[in-house]
Amino acid sequence: MNDTVILKNLHITDKGSTLVGNSTLTIKSGEIFGLVGESGSGKTLTAKSIINLLPKDLSFEADQITAAGKDMLNLSARERREHIGKNVGYIPQNTVFFLHPMIKIKNQIGDGYMRHISSNKKEAMEKAEALLEKVGLHNPKSVMNFYPWQLSGGMRQRVNIAMALMNDPKLIVADEPTTALDSTVQKKVMDLLRSINQELGISILLISHDLGLVKHYSHSLAVMYAGRIAESGETKTIFENPGHPYTKLLIDIIPTMKIKKTEPLSEIPGYVQEKGRDGEGCLFRDRCPRAMEVCSSSVAEHIQGSHFYRCNLE
Ligand SMILES: Nc1ncnc2c1ncn2[C@@H]1O[C@H](COP(=O)(O)OP(=O)(O)OP(=O)(O)O)[C@@H](O)[C@H]1O
Ligand SMILES: [Mg+2]
Repeated sequence: MNDTVILKNLHITDKGSTLVGNSTLTIKSGEIFGLVGESGSGKTLTAKSIINLLPKDLSFEADQITAAGKDMLNLSARERREHIGKNVGYIPQNTVFFLHPMIKIKNQIGDGYMRHISSNKKEAMEKAEALLEKVGLHNPKSVMNFYPWQLSGGMRQRVNIAMALMNDPKLIVADEPTTALDSTVQKKVMDLLRSINQELGISILLISHDLGLVKHYSHSLAVMYAGRIAESGETKTIFENPGHPYTKLLIDIIPTMKIKKTEPLSEIPGYVQEKGRDGEGCLFRDRCPRAMEVCSSSVAEHIQGSHFYRCNLE
């Protein structure tokens, strides 16, 4: 299998202080890859760096950024925008409220297609209607003429998924696509994303704070903590044999993990630090039940096949 995303040693800083450090991950073509972590751990920034959408006020360095199969660091700014526009569908965080409330669906859904694929409006509208049907909206013609406020949260998220599919992308980046939805609607939207992955072979980067959901839907995953990848690998391997104490704690609390996104994980005392992410030691050490003296000065990296974790425990 080819790799559709390769990120090597990503480092994102805000006026010199680290937000995301040493982050490396690989997404294979055709897989659903879950990126998990508490609020503020760096999931959205990591995803945005892959798809050329990092806020301009932040700086970044990386040894490699491959997105939808293309080496981004060797493209011009224009070529990067074009490549992402044509090949990546993006469902931003809080997207349930992302559509413009006062503009009809039909006047929003075709924008990216007409910018990157063909300026033929009729063609764009036909494709949009077909996709609205594909994502499970029963009366696509009327939905095209709706304003977003006339749709439920689940329906709006289906419209966003149809919009992400307009350009026949190789990769979809879905940032917390179901967080704002109640659990039955959440399951339907996630099942839709999985069927898109299976039927169309589109790779999906699924960002979520919910390891239970990621366990169910992903082939591989990475756990982020305080701007670092704590652990990554195939989902099955990680659940059978987690290497990082943080991953183990997250796995242990899955059944009770009915928390809201903005609440801290009360089951794991403490918070993810916003500042002080620059040091060489393990950033989880203050919350880690198995911290040792060495953890304040260095962290060992373990790599076995595609399984990776950073921890001083053997
Ligand atoms: N434009 C910015 N300028 C400065 N700091 C930022 C900026 N964007 C994000 N950050 C900080 O970077 C860190 C990582 O943010 P990010 O949005 O990637 O987290 P996240 O894991 O997606 O969290 P959430 O689950 O809340 O969406 C946070 O501490 C955040 O405050
Ligand atoms: Mg986020």
